[in-house]
Amino acid sequence: MSDITSIEQDALAAIAAAASLDALDAVRVAELGKKGRVSGLMGTLGAMAPEERKEKGPALNALKVRIEEAVRVRKGALEAVALEAQLVRETVDLTLPAAPSAGEGALHPVMQVFEEIAAIFGDMGFRVAEGPDIEDDWHNFTALNFPEGHPAREMHDTFFLKAGDNALPKVLRTHTSPVQVRTMMSEKPPIRILIPGRVFRNDWDATHTPMFHQVEGLVIEEGIHMGHLKGCLVDFVKAFFEVDNVVARFRPHFFPFTEPSAEMDVQCLRAGGVVEVGKGTDWLEVLGCGMVHPNVLRNCGLDPAVHQGFAFGLGVDRLAMLKYGMPDLRPYFEADPQWTRHYGFSPWLTPSVSGGLS
Ligand code: PHE
Repeated sequence: MSDITSIEQDALAAIAAAASLDALDAVRVAELGKKGRVSGLMGTLGAMAPEERKEKGPALNALKVRIEEAVRVRKGALEAVALEAQLVRETVDLTLPAAPSAGEGALHPVMQVFEEIAAIFGDMGFRVAEGPDIEDDWHNFTALNFPEGHPAREMHDTFFLKAGDNALPKVLRTHTSPVQVRTMMSEKPPIRILIPGRVFRNDWDATHTPMFHQVEGLVIEEGIHMGHLKGCLVDFVKAFFEVDNVVARFRPHFFPFTEPSAEMDVQCLRAGGVVEVGKGTDWLEVLGCGMVHPNVLRNCGLDPAVHQGFAFGLGVDRLAMLKYGMPDLRPYFEADPQWTRHYGFSPWLTPSVSGGLS
């Protein structure tokens, strides 16, 4: 019995003395862990005479319960202290005037990357076009050559809104491509637009959020071919990643609204969770692209025998993660000022191709 008493005194003293959650956990493991002292004593029960076991078994169990309880209580106290300290550290005095103080207020990385992309394509003669977040089925799918009932519609994990009488349900747009359609229907070529925007798909993990950001590009002119697409996008990745020797490859792919379609990869080096473009022998997927499908041109009232074009779409959140080394997408949308301060950019330094992007 003296074992039990001395272990208990020891353990309770160590628990009371534990000054951090880590220290407390070390005590818990030393007593109750697989190789801990209490577990060790429990292991001796099997070899005891039945009489002795009858007495020691319940006593050891009770000891284990008392130590567990002490750990739980101490853990609660330490957590409360940690929270209190955090609240003091992060106190905001809401009664202070909202004076612009130096260093406060930062541009979110997604906005920074939007600005960088707009600066690069702006230099090539693209202008920005926008469209609604809530789209109808025709603009989001049908006009873009997704046949009705085609499985590609499901690939997008679409959020549907409640349908009115005799109408197809509206959708939260699953990509920025419907703005291609809106622009081709309302403007005459030549068209050179860049479409930044929010898009929505039912997905949620470290690299997918149900709302994310895309930038779409569209060029419609006479005599446009795959060479223009390639030159334009290779120039873009060099400027964006700020390296001259980017090696790019175009991998055949499928999108209903482009033919041929491709995904563009750039060569990179992956080491220790970091991706470096312009080095190494790995490949990094950057965007989807292709020549605008003749059906799409026809759906928008253009004659494919006269006008051709190319389009591309890229995920801004992902590019920001890659360029600025953020491992997880979810904090993007948590509005934590510490995160924004750490990863944010000065709102005063407008990116430009000649003056520097980042
Ligand atoms: N809209 C496509 C997507 O969201 C991307 C894309 C745009 C591909 C334009 C080709 C051309 O996946």
